[in-house]
Amino acid sequence: SWTTGSVIEEQVAAIREQVGTKRAICGLSGGVDSAVAAALVQKAIGSQLTCVYVDHGLMRKGETEQVEKDFVAATGVQLKVVDAEERFLKALAGVSDPEEKRKIIGREFIRVFEQAQAEIIADSGPEVAFLVQGTLYPDVVESGGGTGTANIKSHHNVGGLPEDLEFELIEPLRKLFKDEVRMVGQELGLPEEIVQRQPFPGPGLGIRIVGEVTKDRLDLLREADAIAREELTAAGLDRDIWQCPVVLLADVRSVGVQGDGRTYGHPIVLRPVSSEDAMTADWSRLPYDVLARISTRITNEVKDVNRVVLDVTSKPPGTIEWE
Ligand code: XMP
Repeated sequence: SWTTGSVIEEQVAAIREQVGTKRAICGLSGGVDSAVAAALVQKAIGSQLTCVYVDHGLMRKGETEQVEKDFVAATGVQLKVVDAEERFLKALAGVSDPEEKRKIIGREFIRVFEQAQAEIIADSGPEVAFLVQGTLYPDVVESGGGTGTANIKSHHNVGGLPEDLEFELIEPLRKLFKDEVRMVGQELGLPEEIVQRQPFPGPGLGIRIVGEVTKDRLDLLREADAIAREELTAAGLDRDIWQCPVVLLADVRSVGVQGDGRTYGHPIVLRPVSSEDAMTADWSRLPYDVLARISTRITNEVKDVNRVVLDVTSKPPGTIEWE
């Protein structure tokens, strides 16, 4: 019968056998899947694994620290953090179109990750042969099933590498559903905030700013988002909602009155949704007193925000994210 203990034992043995004396690389995103996959592989092969975390500057408050400190403390994993905030901000400057933003973020992410990979290989030699991925069972079914290899084009400014590196994939979560992954993560001793994390998009806060992405706007949105998350957690609502994007309408202004006078600030949108699989969703009927606390705190504590609005659209017709 299925127990988290037996899954872990089985995977640890299989990974040891597969990797032998070679080395593996794993990208961490801050999400549940990559964290649990990395923790499993770490348990199996220890220092033969190196993790890479690309800090694109688009994460929410405290999330990068969660990976850098809490995840490392819980697993003892070797972690290479790449601070790429400036690079991402530069690439995103002047861009407001959602699809354009996604393309830029995806492209920069791959470039930075491959550069980090190339550096790790340059440091540790050609025995780096494996790439760990947090593929889940539903992803396997969706993509038709095969296991595979990944072709990674190396960059030319790192000497002594072949033009194309071929990695064999390690996918220790291939047979698991999300709730099972969380159980395995818990059993492996990962922090609650990582194991129970709600979905968060890869492009991060970059697609939660309607308008151009700038450092000031990101900082502002991080504050508003942190307040919303804090109040939802305090109210015990984390398990009731699927996720609650907090969106900054940076291209919209409205008139307000605050303290001693007129303001002309930006609205923040709360988008709490209930869902089973994110394919469809309904807007969450949150208690009014919780909404009131979030609204009061955001307008009091976040500079340049003078209005909080609630998104009451289901999916369809509205997607969960605004971009
Ligand atoms: P939508 O907005 O399409 O979102 O209703 C459905 C779910 O997917 C997440 N999402 C993303 N996740 N990269 C991701 O890894 C993305 O580009 C992306 N866009 C949306 C969203 O947060 C929701 O859970």
